[in-house]
Amino acid sequence: MFNNNTIQRFNDTETPFYYYDMGVLRQTLDACRDASSKYGFHVHYAMKANFNPKVVDMIQTFGFGADCVSGNEVKSALEHGFDKGKVVFAGVGKSDKEINLALDADIFCFNVESVQELEIINGLAADKGKVAGIAIRINPNVDAHTHHFITTGLDENKFGINTWQLNDVAETLRKCANLKFLGIHFHIGSQITDMEVYRNLCTRINEMQDWFEDHGFAIKVLNTGGGLGVDYYNPDTNGIADFESYFKVFSKFLKVKPGQEVHFELGRAMVAQSASLISRVLYVKNGQKKNFLILDAGMTELMRPMLYQAYHAIENLSRERGERSGEPDGEVAHDGAPNTPHPAPPIKYDVVGPICESTDCFRKDVDLPQSYRGDLIAIRTAGAYGEVMASHYNLRDQVQSVYSE
Ligand code: LLP
Repeated sequence: MFNNNTIQRFNDTETPFYYYDMGVLRQTLDACRDASSKYGFHVHYAMKANFNPKVVDMIQTFGFGADCVSGNEVKSALEHGFDKGKVVFAGVGKSDKEINLALDADIFCFNVESVQELEIINGLAADKGKVAGIAIRINPNVDAHTHHFITTGLDENKFGINTWQLNDVAETLRKCANLKFLGIHFHIGSQITDMEVYRNLCTRINEMQDWFEDHGFAIKVLNTGGGLGVDYYNPDTNGIADFESYFKVFSKFLKVKPGQEVHFELGRAMVAQSASLISRVLYVKNGQKKNFLILDAGMTELMRPMLYQAYHAIENLSRERGERSGEPDGEVAHDGAPNTPHPAPPIKYDVVGPICESTDCFRKDVDLPQSYRGDLIAIRTAGAYGEVMASHYNLRDQVQSVYSE
């Protein structure tokens, strides 16, 4: 991800910015396509993970479909050239305007999250003389064993239709002439690395298929959602998500009948490792109890640590990599900081941002080489739910992006 040239480029670039390594992105997408195509699986990219135009453009060239959660995402997917026949639209609160937009675009499938929504889509489709393809998003009550803020498939979550409502669903589907039932959809949570969880999901999907078929509904689409996690601790040595094991679980445990299609909606696993948030140390505060590295990036640029206590690896690029760390011993850099090719034992810093909130902290007690004003800091694995969740709080500038050549 970083060599001398990149770090030289960073030295000449205003911070903070997201740095996208397009090579890492391409390798990841290759791995995803290879692993899924072995089984003939259909993969939709979850646009919400990152809608940076260059990233989305590259993903589109791989032939994946798009998984959208708003009218604007549907619009953006189509503008980026995704095939409308591969666009799916989920979300508990689709507005009439958004549904109309997706109906006009003739997308492949609405993943419907309530009985009432079925009736609304049916009505809006009837007004247009159209038939909408739909899948029922079922809340399977399967524990994803991930952070509770990113768990979606338990009875207590707002997502999907609970199994006790399925009779209502069947009755409504029979009445709705402007809906075409395609199949069933699930999404139980995000950053899931335990394959056993997916095995449990397969069991539930198999039960649900049986239920629908027993009630006279043929299933064409089995959409298992997304959620595959990545290694936030070892972005360099374990940078590609374990697509092989992931798809293998479904190939082994999902009951797929002839003519049925298996669909996935992956976000994080496709983009997380391709970006780092690059920022500079503004100030070093050495207190009696704590040492603080105060960066020029904060929760306005990357929200995940503050919102989910998420771990991101943090590196001082100026001290650990690149030119300065390679300069001869004893020389003094332009800012008066000594060069440290053989760094002294690490120091513990609380790495914080400039925002007026105590929670604006990337991590406490991070072991880093002695750091100085102007040092470049990389916050790794920031390609998913990073740039897209940035905000203007404190009237901050919009975070910029830089791409590998
Ligand atoms: N399908 C549906 C219906 C979803 O809600 C999501 C993510 C995905 C697919 C893609 O999931 P993935 O493969 O990326 O795990 N902001 C949080 C993650 C929120 C995920 C929301 N839904 C984070 O930064 O961890």
